[in-house]
Amino acid sequence: MTTELSSDVTTEESAPVEGAAAEPQLTDQGWTHRDMLDLDTCSRSDIEAVLTLADRMREILDRRIPRVPALRGYTVVNLFYEPSTRTRVSFELAGKVLGADVISVSASTSSVVKGESLIDTVRTLRAMRADAVVMRHSMAGAPYLAAQHTDASIINAGDGAHAHPTQALLDLYTMRRAVGDLTGKKVVMVGDIAHSRVARSDLWGLAAMGAKVVVCGPPTLLPLGMRAGDRPGHAESALPPVSIETEIDAAIEGADVVMALRLQSERQEGGLLPSMHEYATHYQVTAERLARANPDHLLMHPGPKNEGIEIAGDVAGGSHSIIEDQVTNGVAVRMALLYLLSGRVDPADTDGEVRS
Ligand code: NCD
Repeated sequence: MTTELSSDVTTEESAPVEGAAAEPQLTDQGWTHRDMLDLDTCSRSDIEAVLTLADRMREILDRRIPRVPALRGYTVVNLFYEPSTRTRVSFELAGKVLGADVISVSASTSSVVKGESLIDTVRTLRAMRADAVVMRHSMAGAPYLAAQHTDASIINAGDGAHAHPTQALLDLYTMRRAVGDLTGKKVVMVGDIAHSRVARSDLWGLAAMGAKVVVCGPPTLLPLGMRAGDRPGHAESALPPVSIETEIDAAIEGADVVMALRLQSERQEGGLLPSMHEYATHYQVTAERLARANPDHLLMHPGPKNEGIEIAGDVAGGSHSIIEDQVTNGVAVRMALLYLLSGRVDPADTDGEVRS
């Protein structure tokens, strides 16, 4: 069974709406995930399924009245134990555009402050028939624990410095929309790689899509296993193959995409950087440095950005910047993901189903 994505809000009553109990027909079509915890367990075809569907979702988002009933009766709970603007709002909008009920809980105003455990919180939400729980937590692995204790779909919206798969999916989608096939494209990530869950998930996604990835930052901000002298076989050597460059000019040379990453001040153990000023002097992405990139290069940043530290204000708002596209595309990609996880869609059948 598939659900039609209709633009015509007046036909909402007649639009097919599958109940949550409807048998998902996705297992034979390649999409088998109940949760989205990270991209390391996603094949290229899983990623393609999300990106292809995101194109349809982007069309819906760009309509005059961006509302369809495709996820009516589906409940999404945003459970955020860490601050967020774009990811939380993006999931809220994604659900609402598709007609889902979306409820946002912030841990600081929930029973978490009364000592309720993560497992109890997630079970409580499921007892109220939450179909998907979008979770952000400061502890790496928290969404994995939650996923073991509920049959609701758990979506990792950032766990510590570990993973942020939906940011990676929207980054891949934004790159692909702008440059086409990513095979062989040089993508350079500059900044605090060690503490960046975005970088880690991007690495998996970019590897799956065949891009050439270079990470660049001060040696103290490169992940263990990537630093000179690290023991081979360290857990993080399980990351996909990546080139490492500590000189930003060399890293940016010929780049198709440059992504600046925020210094994760909330995750620094101290002593990793001499000073912000020194960091900015050596690693800020500036117009002068971008002159070494491919003339058609794209500039990205997952946000929130600290202009004047990891990125210069003029390039962040300049003609190569697609930072705002990342934000808009984030909604479309999350719509696609929610729809796939709901089990209401057969990705192979989505072509032509969206009436404009
Ligand atoms: C990122 C995050 O929270 O990991 N932001 C985001 O979700 N867009 C990046 C960051 O905080 O620097």
